[in-house]
Amino acid sequence: MTQTVQDGALENEAPGHDVLRLEGLHVSYKTAAGPVPAVRGVDLALPAGGRLGLAGESGCGKSTLAGAVLRLLPKSARVTGRILLDGEDVQTMTWGRLRAVRWAQASIVFQGAMHSLNPVRRVGDQIAEPILLHDKKVSRAAADRRVATLLDQVGLVAARAAAYPHELSGGQRQRVMIAMALACSPRLIVADEPTTALDVMIQAQILRLIGELVSEHGISLLMISHDLAVLAEHCDRLAVMYAGRIVEEGPADRVFADARHPYGRALADAFPRIGDAASRRGPRGLPGDPPDPAHLPEGCTFAPRCPITAEECLTAEPPLIAAGDGRTAACVRMDVLREGS
Ligand SMILES: Nc1ncnc2c1ncn2[C@@H]1O[C@H](COP(=O)(O)OP(=O)(O)O)[C@@H](O)[C@H]1O
Ligand code: SF4
Ligand SMILES: [Mg+2]
Repeated sequence: MTQTVQDGALENEAPGHDVLRLEGLHVSYKTAAGPVPAVRGVDLALPAGGRLGLAGESGCGKSTLAGAVLRLLPKSARVTGRILLDGEDVQTMTWGRLRAVRWAQASIVFQGAMHSLNPVRRVGDQIAEPILLHDKKVSRAAADRRVATLLDQVGLVAARAAAYPHELSGGQRQRVMIAMALACSPRLIVADEPTTALDVMIQAQILRLIGELVSEHGISLLMISHDLAVLAEHCDRLAVMYAGRIVEEGPADRVFADARHPYGRALADAFPRIGDAASRRGPRGLPGDPPDPAHLPEGCTFAPRCPITAEECLTAEPPLIAAGDGRTAACVRMDVLREGS
């Protein structure tokens, strides 16, 4: 029996197996002022046990992408393309199947733990809830023991289970969110700017904790941040998102040290150190803001901010093409960028 289970597990972890795959993902919000195309044709793959960092400034579509993975977007969002969790299409799942998949197969840690936790329920009960929901055979006592173990794993004493969210610090609340995300031993954790609201020291601790826990438990991680340096430290691959598209993807160290797209380069230069407080609000040396998705510029969407833009950039939106060292980048002038580096 054990042998059969092991065989199954091995088969599941065969090389090339992706825990998450996005194929031609588009998300457009319907608004009174017209459609807002927030994600425009994203292809990404996250293998079992892999850690993928998704970088980009505010408004580039990162949270929309994350919400699409677990079908957490509002009704106004129109999603096309394929989102595969362990090969299963999220969009065609029944509600029952989706409920089973959330927490147990993939869970998400959001930015503001205070808003995600129920203020009038003890945190221990909130961590126990997905455990009890997903395993009907689990007794309350066993769930409480599991809660104590989870709290210990995220660095909180078991007695904190009795606390209400407002009795905890921001960092402690984020630890509770991580305990909830781990509660049902998921295959994938999506961490969407999990530390942005916290102070610098606590940010580093929480990110380290997430990194350690996912590798200890063999969980795949999609970590989202505006800070490329943070992602480079905790992820093995990086994807850079701009105006709803991936403009660069590749091994984390290569993208961080030697980006092939001027936007990736600007992000890498902007956040040289983890938690550099002065550069938290926006990349240093990069003028302006990302475009409004409802009014995208012609040609390359980065052209209005790009230091090496030229006539050829304005004719069409550059496709993602091979950029060496296992990378892809969407820039028609990456050779110019390379010469200047
Ligand atoms: N519910 C919504 N309705 C309309 N537009 C939205 C909605 N949510 C997000 N957007 C827009 O989609 C774009 C991408 O937003 P978001 O995914 O939150 O980006 P990020 O997480 O990178 O900051 C932004 O222009 C944002 O204003
Ligand atoms: S295609 Fe042109 S405008 Fe766009 S990033 Fe490359 S050089 Fe800059
Ligand atoms: Mg966001």
